[in-house]
Amino acid sequence: VSFSQKDATDLYVSAVGDPGMRRDGLRVAIESWNQCNEVGEETPNFGSPRAADCFDLIEDAGKKDCYSIQHKVTEQDNLLGVGNPIPGGNSKFFNNVDLYAAEKEVYLGSRCKVEDKPNPWHFWMIMLKNGNMDTYAALCPKDGKKVGPYGPDGRFDCFGKGCMNHPTMYHNYTKLVGTTLIGRFFGTWDVDIATSKRGSIDQAKNISFYSVTWEKEIGKDSWVFRHVLKTSTRFPWLMLYLRSDAIQGFSGGYHYNSRGMIKTKMIKSRIVQKYLESPNFTVRFTLNVTRGRGSKTQFYLMDMGSCWKNNGKPCDGDVTSDVTRYSEMIITPETEPWCKPDRLELCPPYHTFLNGTRVHRNDTKNFPYDAYHMHCSPGNAKHLEEPSNKCDPFSNPQPQEILQILPHPVWGEYGYPTQKGEGWIGDPKTWWLDVGKMSQNLYFYQDPGTRPIKRRWTSIDLGVEVYRDPDQVIEWTVSDFNILVPQGSVLQT
Ligand SMILES: *[C@@H]1O[C@H](CO)[C@@H](O)[C@H](O)[C@H]1NC(C)=O
Ligand SMILES: *[C@@H]1O[C@H](CO)[C@@H](O)[C@H](O)[C@H]1NC(C)=O
Ligand SMILES: *[C@@H]1O[C@H](CO)[C@@H](O)[C@H](O)[C@H]1NC(C)=O
Ligand SMILES: *[C@@H]1O[C@H](CO)[C@@H](O)[C@H](O)[C@H]1NC(C)=O
Ligand SMILES: *[C@@H]1O[C@H](CO)[C@@H](O)[C@H](O)[C@H]1NC(C)=O
Ligand SMILES: *[C@@H]1O[C@H](CO)[C@@H](O)[C@H](O)[C@H]1NC(C)=O
Repeated sequence: VSFSQKDATDLYVSAVGDPGMRRDGLRVAIESWNQCNEVGEETPNFGSPRAADCFDLIEDAGKKDCYSIQHKVTEQDNLLGVGNPIPGGNSKFFNNVDLYAAEKEVYLGSRCKVEDKPNPWHFWMIMLKNGNMDTYAALCPKDGKKVGPYGPDGRFDCFGKGCMNHPTMYHNYTKLVGTTLIGRFFGTWDVDIATSKRGSIDQAKNISFYSVTWEKEIGKDSWVFRHVLKTSTRFPWLMLYLRSDAIQGFSGGYHYNSRGMIKTKMIKSRIVQKYLESPNFTVRFTLNVTRGRGSKTQFYLMDMGSCWKNNGKPCDGDVTSDVTRYSEMIITPETEPWCKPDRLELCPPYHTFLNGTRVHRNDTKNFPYDAYHMHCSPGNAKHLEEPSNKCDPFSNPQPQEILQILPHPVWGEYGYPTQKGEGWIGDPKTWWLDVGKMSQNLYFYQDPGTRPIKRRWTSIDLGVEVYRDPDQVIEWTVSDFNILVPQGSVLQT
C-alpha cells in the first residue's frame, strides 16, 4: 500500500459521513431491486421496497450514562407505497412503482440527513437484488431498449408469475439493550410461504432468507453489521450488499438520483463525483466471513460501481448510451479464472501493472490470466477487440461492463489478497485497499481515439451474489468501513 496509517491521518480525510462506522446515532437504509434494478411490483403490506432506520442517541439531561433513542423515520414512512403521497415529493411519480421508489429514497434521505461539510449525508445502504427474470412479462429493457415478451431463455430462472417479486421487509427498530444498541431488517422472497411460517423463516429449508443486524456498544468501537443470505429453489439468484453510495447523482447500477454516504461535491450546479476519483482514494473495513461455499457464491471483497459513456462523456440518464461499469474482487476460494489463453474473450484486452507496463492478453508468457475471473463488454460498444464477450443485456437499466478479478500477486501491491482463501472463512481481516490506484489501472472499454474519462466512483460496497444456486447460506460481518481521500480534494469548495 502506498501510504501508511500515519500519512493517512495527516494528509487524508474521510469521504463518508460516518468514518469507520463509529457514530452512535446510526443512519442505515435498505433497498430491493429486481433483475433490471427496478421495482416492477410491490410486495403487499410492505410498501415500496425502501426503508430506513435512523436515530439520534440523546443523553438524558442531568443523568449521566442514561440515554434515549430518538427515531427519525416512522413506521408510516417505511410503509409508504405507490399511490400514497410522499411528503415533499413530486406527485407526478406517485402512481408509477419504479419512480415512486426513487422518490421514497429521496424522502427517507431527507428524514435521515445529517448536516456536515461540504455536504449533508444520509445513510449506509443495504441492497437486495433478485436475479429471477420473467421474460414473458417484458419488464426489463435489453441494453436500455424496450423489448417485447420472449422466451424461454435458459440464462434466467422463473417459476412463473411473480418470480421477480421483492422480499418481505420486517424491521426491528434500533433499541437499547443495556449499553448495546441493536436493530435489524430481515425477510424472505418466498412471500406466500412466509406468511404461513412466520417466525421460523431463518431455519426453514428451501425458503429464501436475508437478515442484516447492526449492533454497537455506546461510545465504543464500530457498528458491526451481521449479514445472512440464503437462496431457495424458487429464488436461486440473490444478492445482498452493504453499500456506501454517493449522496446524489446516479449510484452504480441505479439510474435515479440516489441518497447515501459519500459526501459528493456539486460543481457549477452539475453533479460531479469529485471525491472518489481514481487514483486518489483508499478503502478500509473489517470483514469476517463465517459461512458460505461453492463457485456460484461470489463474495465481493470489494465491488465498485460507476457510469460513463463509451465516448468518455459522463452519464446523463440516457439509458441507450450510458454504461454502468463494475469491478469486483471475488474471494470465494472455489471461484476459478475463466479467463485463459484459449478463452481470450473472457479476459480484458490487456493488463496494466502498477508501474504502467501493459501486457496484451495474447502474450501468454506475461499476461496474469489467473488474476481474472472474467471480463464482459458493454452491449453497445462499437469497436471491441475480438474475440469479445458481451455482458448480460438485461440486468441493468442500461448496458454494462463488468471486470471480475481474483486474488493474485498482481493485486498485492494495492493491498488486495494475493492467494485463494485470504480473507475467507477463518481469516477475518481488516483491509486497507488502494481502490483508487487499482481502479485507475483496470481495463474498461472506451471508443478508440476518445479521451480517457476521469474515473469517478459513485458506489463502493461489499457483499455476496449467489448466481443460480439454491440452498446456499452465506454469513458475514462488516465493521470499521471508511473511505479516505487526499485532504486537498476536500478543502476546495
Ligand atoms: C422483530 O420483528 C419481528 C417482526 O415484526 C417480530 O416478530 C419480533 O418480535 C421482533 N423482535 C424483537 C427482538 O423485537
Ligand atoms: C423446494 O421448493 C420448490 C418450490 O416451492 C419445490 O418445487 C421443490 O420440490 C422443493 N425442493 C425441496 C428439496 O424441498
Ligand atoms: C492524485 O494522485 C496523483 C498521482 O499520485 C497526484 O499527482 C495528484 O496530485 C493527486 N491529487 C490530489 C488531489 O491529491
Ligand atoms: C468472526 O466471527 C466469529 C463467529 O461469529 C467469531 O467467533 C470471531 O470472534 C470473529 N472474529 C473476529 C476477528 O471478529
Ligand atoms: C513492471 O512490472 C512488471 C511486473 O512486476 C515487470 O515484469 C516489468 O518488467 C516492469 N516494467 C518496468 C519497465 O519496470
Ligand atoms: C496480439 O494482439 C496485438 C493487438 O491486437 C497484435 O498487434 C499482435 O499481433 C498479437 N500477437 C499475436 C502473437 O497474436
